[in-house]
Amino acid sequence: MPATKEAATHAFWLAGRQATGDQTFEVTSPWDGRPVGTVSVPTAAQVEEAVAAAVAVADEFAATPAHVRAAALDHVCSRITERAEEIAELISAENGKPMKWARGEVGRCISVFRLAAEEARRFNGGVAQRLDTDAGGTGRLALTRRFPRGPVLGIAPFNFPLNLCAHKVAPALAVGTPILLKPAPATPLSGLLLGELLAETDLPAGSWSVLPVPNDRMPDLVQDERLPVVSFTGSAPVGWSILDSAPRKRVTLELGGNGAAVVLADYATDADIDWAAQRIATFSNYQGGQSCISVQRVIADTSVYDRLVPKIVEAVERLRTGDPSDPATDVGPLVSEDAAKRVESWVAEAVAAGAKVLTGGTRERASYAPTVLENVPSDSKIGCDEVFGPVMSVTRVEGEEAAFAAANDSPYGLQAGVFTHDVQAAFRAHRALETGGVIIGDVPSYRADQMPYGGAKQSGVGREGVQFAMEDYTYERVMVLTGLDL
Ligand code: SIN
Repeated sequence: MPATKEAATHAFWLAGRQATGDQTFEVTSPWDGRPVGTVSVPTAAQVEEAVAAAVAVADEFAATPAHVRAAALDHVCSRITERAEEIAELISAENGKPMKWARGEVGRCISVFRLAAEEARRFNGGVAQRLDTDAGGTGRLALTRRFPRGPVLGIAPFNFPLNLCAHKVAPALAVGTPILLKPAPATPLSGLLLGELLAETDLPAGSWSVLPVPNDRMPDLVQDERLPVVSFTGSAPVGWSILDSAPRKRVTLELGGNGAAVVLADYATDADIDWAAQRIATFSNYQGGQSCISVQRVIADTSVYDRLVPKIVEAVERLRTGDPSDPATDVGPLVSEDAAKRVESWVAEAVAAGAKVLTGGTRERASYAPTVLENVPSDSKIGCDEVFGPVMSVTRVEGEEAAFAAANDSPYGLQAGVFTHDVQAAFRAHRALETGGVIIGDVPSYRADQMPYGGAKQSGVGREGVQFAMEDYTYERVMVLTGLDL
């Protein structure tokens, strides 16, 4: 990207138009600290204006024909496709994500808007029920449709700065409910760029805003009664505090995880072991491990453990670390040097408690080397918390039951991966694992954007995935028709 463009000051989007406030903040590259952009911060009065505009337009927007909403979503989908490479560069610059992963994120965002346009056309929740099953209901029919709960506050994290904004915005626009998007302070530029594309559509003014407000001003928005829906993706402590502070709202929390990849005894040919090792190595470290479903815990049956673990270590050591703008880079920096220092301290804690470093375990500025640990105590932070860094632990177990119990030995439950060819074992895993998703034959990190995505236990409540977020943003309203000649 040219330097002048990188250093540009970015206005925010207030009720569909550009605006600037009286303060700014800098966005810098986690890789080399260079400035990527200056962002204008909305004042309290401007935030109020955005909320009031969302409330004012809510009825009109809900009544917008589906083809209008779908056309707007299709437009964003096409424009992201046209500008894909530039957008990937922006994601990589502000987040530090290697270009190969940034391109993948753009591709997924295109799918999210395409799916939302498709769902907008078919979504109505319409169910007709005959009521003449009892004498009092003779001549009566119930018709159920879904209507928006009201304006949505979408709070997005830094790790997928474009696509997790899309998962908040696209379903809202698909059902015709206004949305106020708060992108993450570390990575607001991708969300603001989404605003640029939305501004090219005919969506009514007020139906969307992108407001890069600092985190310490988030509680006011969370508690604003005019915003009955909060959709949050981020850390568990912040997420649960949102739910506690707004218990009467519709709150969706997509929080952390410490994803387990379970390798069962039947997954034992050379090809099986190679595949599992390569997938585990890649998806423990993609985006520096900064994904809620990256592989953090490898749980392998004792019969495959001694062949699997050296292969994992080899595959991890083959990953290229370095400059995220280099197309060959597999693993870039973490979002900040502080984040990398935290990971370093967690590894040190595990090592002090008896863990052995099989590879990695070093830090340079914001980059932490892809790391494999053995003998990690289950009560250490690496053993039970979410690392959100390129670190995995490997654990030997005996038998399927022990493997599933080890996978469940976590406060989290987002997704799990189970390497097996045995269809019965797959169903047993599906039944036993306390997670929002079980991926058979692959890592927990697999996500298709139309799938229900969300957690059990401390990993959150509610589901994303376009159609599921659309359900979350709406509620059923029954109309009973009487006096019918049925
Ligand atoms: C997340 O980190 O929760 C999002 C993962 C994804 O969308 O692949």
